[in-house]
Formats: sequence, structure tokens, C-alpha cells
Amino acid sequence: MAATWMQRVWRQVRGKSPFEGTIVPGRVALFAPFAGRPSLPFPHPWNYQEPLVILDTFFHGADKEASHGARHNRYLDVPGFMPVLITRDPAIIKAISAATGDKPGQFDRDTLPIGGIARATGKRTLIASNGAEWRAQKQTVAPPFAKSTLFQPEIFEEFEKTFRATASQRLELVRQRVQQAGSSSLRLQLEPEIKAVMLEMLVNNFFGARLASEDVRTRDVPALDFFIDGIVRDTVVNMAGCPLHKLPAWMRGGAKATESRARFEQLTSSTLEPRARGEGLWRQFKSDAPDEALKPNIRAFLAGAVEASTSYAAWALAHVASNPAVQERLYNEVRDVEEYNPETLKRLEYLGCVLNETMRLTPALYFHPRRPTVDTWIHTDAGQTLMVPEGTHILMDVWHANRHEDHWGVAVTGHRADKFAPERWLGRDATELGTRDWMHFGYGHGPRFCPGKNLGQLEVALVVGAVVKLFELRAMDASGAARAGVSTKPADGVLVDLRLRENSRE
Ligand code: HEM
Repeated sequence: MAATWMQRVWRQVRGKSPFEGTIVPGRVALFAPFAGRPSLPFPHPWNYQEPLVILDTFFHGADKEASHGARHNRYLDVPGFMPVLITRDPAIIKAISAATGDKPGQFDRDTLPIGGIARATGKRTLIASNGAEWRAQKQTVAPPFAKSTLFQPEIFEEFEKTFRATASQRLELVRQRVQQAGSSSLRLQLEPEIKAVMLEMLVNNFFGARLASEDVRTRDVPALDFFIDGIVRDTVVNMAGCPLHKLPAWMRGGAKATESRARFEQLTSSTLEPRARGEGLWRQFKSDAPDEALKPNIRAFLAGAVEASTSYAAWALAHVASNPAVQERLYNEVRDVEEYNPETLKRLEYLGCVLNETMRLTPALYFHPRRPTVDTWIHTDAGQTLMVPEGTHILMDVWHANRHEDHWGVAVTGHRADKFAPERWLGRDATELGTRDWMHFGYGHGPRFCPGKNLGQLEVALVVGAVVKLFELRAMDASGAARAGVSTKPADGVLVDLRLRENSRE
């Protein structure tokens, strides 16, 4: 039976662990002024823009722990608050992900760390809902994205063709800029270009809207960026007890915030408009739900899915630009590829390795939040157990799980965990995302696995393939430094020198 509030606080005051089982998580101190930690282990106004550093703090000194449980599972337990458990243990991440859903005793997605997204999109979305509401959302929203729908030859062909046309039109503009630069190369930040392609692919090609390319790049992408920045600020400010909308206008970003919100609403309406004409994805969408009821999910796709696919492609190109040998091998594989159909994607083994390795080392969604609805026993495949009390905030920290030597290092994969090494995936059916025993959780796992995986994978493979075919890229900063908000991104926005490949000159 779950402990009462009094029992919990009494236990917390005595410093007793809230967990039971063979896995014993290590305790993290709230304040440790002389421990040399990079930050405090909770978000506050001075560190909220560096969530990866907050996660680093949880694992500060953890490698000295003798037990696997304490090394990879850390918790904060402050009297009066619910415990917070951060895990970078793939066995625990897998077990919790598999036991997330709407059945009695299963885990919920914890909505605390995604509160800003839910307030911006509306709560009735596939991302923010739990229990019966989530099941109903999934049955309505997910089918058009399913492999069985998307990979029907005529549907796939249509999307692939329009996606490819969008990517090549945008790249043609970049190609012209490189040529006009007069010198052999052009220095450019690739991330805004990628985001414009991803937004256009989703809104125009997938949903059938008719936004002008230049408007997407110059008007919609900046508005979306500002809007997403507001979501991150709102999430943190709200943790301090005050939602952003209750603050004065100047603290919310003033006129620019109002303008970006209005633009975002316009984008949402433009995405829904083709429904009445039965165009794009809407042809596959079997529901009589009114447009108004679909808006929260459309907003979530615009804010979340575009962000995730931009991060993924941006990281892939940043890694390729920093690793000339990888780039050359990839170029040799894609130089003659015109079409990205399911057969081609299967054949492009090295592209599969590059994408898998990108997902592993630099996952776009870097933590997956969960919450047990009752005191819950977790059982790993190896027979280890962990009891997590009802209401515990769990962050499954895939960023740190995926770059730890214990899980992905030389002894396990033949390559260092902190290095970008696509070769580690060779011969492991790299066209699939992660194998049964090597799971990077880039698209999640279990019932709340990403429904947009097939769409996202096609978009990213196509953009990465098309860029590498056209340009030789050289990174300005090959350190792999990251910034993080809703998703992770290369810190420099993928600043590269672009040089036209010989066969792409006119
Ligand atoms: C290509 C890059 C993408 C990446 C890396 C990605 C990653 C993820 C991950 C890791 C999750 C699971 C989170 C968790 O377990 O808490 C997820 C869920 C989700 N994704 Fe994606 N995603 C991508 C693209 C998309 C696209 C294109 C769409 C739709 C247009 C989409 C829609 C969703 C939705 C609705 C969920 C929630 C599913 C649920 O809770 O049942 N994603 N995504």
C-alpha cells in the first residue's frame, strides 16, 4: 500500500531510501557546495537553459560507485516533495518503457517536465495524455503514420516524390548561394535550412497545405523557434510555481511572443485546411472528430515532431561534417541514389549505420519522463528488481545511458562509447533502428513508442543523403558540443563550410 504523506515525510527526514529490490539507487545531495558538481540537481532560472548539465550533476562522481545499481540509478529525495529518480541504466529504461501504458499498474508519462508543451498545445494530445484518454488518442491519431499505411507503394511513392522535390528545391537555393559566393566554399549554419525543409515536408507534403517555401523559412521557422523557447521557459518557471501566462507581458517576451503565438495558430489552421479537401495525409484519416478537437495534436506535431526531426538531421550532418572518413564512405554509397524507397533504404547499409549512431550518441529526445501510478515493481530481463513508490518522478536519461562505456564501450561494441563510430553497427541489421540487445531508445520503446518513426526516418535519410550527395561539408567546431531544450541540437547550429561536389556543378 502506498505510504501516506506523513509516513513519506518521516521516512525522508530520516534519510531512508524510498526504493526496494536488488537494485539500490545512489542518493544525490540537494546541496553539496564543495563537491565540484557542475550545477544544482534541479532546474532554476540560472541553469534551466542547460538541462544536460543538470543531468550531469546527478551522475557526478557516480562512476566511483561499486554497485551497478548506484552507478546508473540516482535519486533526489527532499522532505515534502516526491522523490526524483534519474536512470541511465538501459535494462531499467527498457523495463519501464515496456510497462508504460493504460493497463492497471502501468507507468504514465510524467507530465511535469512537459508541462510547457501541454499548456502550449492543449492537454488532449497523444503526447500529454495518459490512461484511457491516451488509448483513445492513439487509436485515432496514430494509424495514418503506421508503416502499413505509409509503406503502401502508391502512398509512399507520392510522399517520397514530394519530399524529395521539397528537399532538392531548398538545396538548389543553397547550391546557388555557394556558386554565387565566388570562392570555392560558403560558410553557413545548416540548422535553419534543415528546419525549413522539415516544416515544409510535414505541413505541405504530408498534410497537404500550400505554404510558400520562402514564407516557411523567413516567417514560420523563426516564429516556431521563439514559440518553442517560450515552452521551455514556461516549463521551468512553472516548476517554480508560476506559469508563464501569469507573468507580466514583458517577462513573457512581449509583442514578439504574441506575434509568434498568432503565427503558430495560423500554421495550425493551414495544416488542418486540406482536411476538407481530402488532400495529403487527410485521405488516410478516418475520424469524424471536429477540426477543433484535432488542433492540440496538430500543434504538438508542429512543435514536437518538427523539432525532433530537425535535431536528428542536424546531428547527423554535424557528425558527418566532423568526420571526413565517414563522410567519404557515405558519399560513395549515396552518390548514385535518386530515390529513397523502402528497398533503397534497406540497401543503404552505411547510411543506416550513420543514422543509428547519430541516434545513439546524440538522441534528439534526451530524456523520457515516467510516473508510477501505484507502488510498482520493475523486473529487468536479467532478473534484477526495483520497487518505485507511487508518484516518483522518473527521468529515463537516454543521453547519458547511450554514451556510457559500461553499456556501449569497447568491451561491448568494439568502439569507445563517447566516439561517433558508425562502424560499430555494421553487420547488425543497421537498417533497423537499434537491435534487440543494443537499444538506443532514439524513438522510445514499448507502447508509447514514437508513431512518427517511419515518417521521420524517411525525412531524415532523404535530407542527409541529398546534402552529402551535393556538398562536401567541413565542421567549424568538431567538438560535438550540445545545447538542449525540448530536444538536443549541435551548439553551433551546424556551422559548416560547404563546397560543391564536382558532379553537382553546372
Ligand atoms: C524523426 C525524428 C523523431 C524522433 C527522434 C522522435 C522521437 C520520439 C520519442 C523518443 C518518443 C517517445 C518518448 C517517450 O517514450 O516518452 C516519441 C513519441 C512520439 N512521437 Fe516522435 N520522434 C520523431 C518524429 C516524429 C514525427 C514525425 C511525429 C509525427 C508527426 C512524431 C510524433 C510522436 C508522438 C505523437 C509521440 C507520443 C506517442 C505516445 O505517447 O503514444 N514523432 N517520439
